[in-house]
Amino acid sequence: MLDVGGGSARIGELVLEQGASRYVDVDLSDSMLELARQRLERFGEDKVTLIQGDFLRAAIPGSYEVILALGYFDYIENAPAHVRRMGELIAPGGSVVSSFPRWTWAKGPIRKLRYEVINNCPIYDYTRDGLMELFAGFTNVEIRPGKSGFLLRATA
Ligand SMILES: C[S@@+](CC[C@H](N)C(=O)[O-])C[C@H]1O[C@@H](n2cnc3c(N)ncnc32)[C@H](O)[C@@H]1O
Repeated sequence: MLDVGGGSARIGELVLEQGASRYVDVDLSDSMLELARQRLERFGEDKVTLIQGDFLRAAIPGSYEVILALGYFDYIENAPAHVRRMGELIAPGGSVVSSFPRWTWAKGPIRKLRYEVINNCPIYDYTRDGLMELFAGFTNVEIRPGKSGFLLRATA
């Protein structure tokens, strides 16, 4: 499994406990990857690879049956480029599983204020139609709406 923006690998720990043979976390943040290193130490180096860098530019060897991106697209300016790279790294028949926030009047204004106004961190929202377009290159796309976003599975 490749975890894009996997951060401290909270999901990595779960999937390795469930028997995943290999987990690769690519993340911009050194401090998050240090937390991931400590968390995953017990699984051994042959199963775990931590790559520090921008997902679009980092050297990521191999292809993956599952590519995960949870809480990632909230902050990504050029989503099509990131989805294209996922398409290059996914194995035939493999799945991209990803979460996407959507605008809601309950949470939207507070999120915008907190991230964009106070922390100067742009955030992005998605629509079902927009996601279908974004993943048009995949064979099958399933989208489940939730309270404040979508969970998507796209099969190569
Ligand atoms: C909200 S955290 C989610 C972490 C993890 N997926 C989880 O659910 O616990 C988003 C992560 O994406 C990383 N990130 C943001 N842009 C990135 C990029 N262009 N390439 C790699 N990692 C990136 C951040 O450093 C951060 O650790």
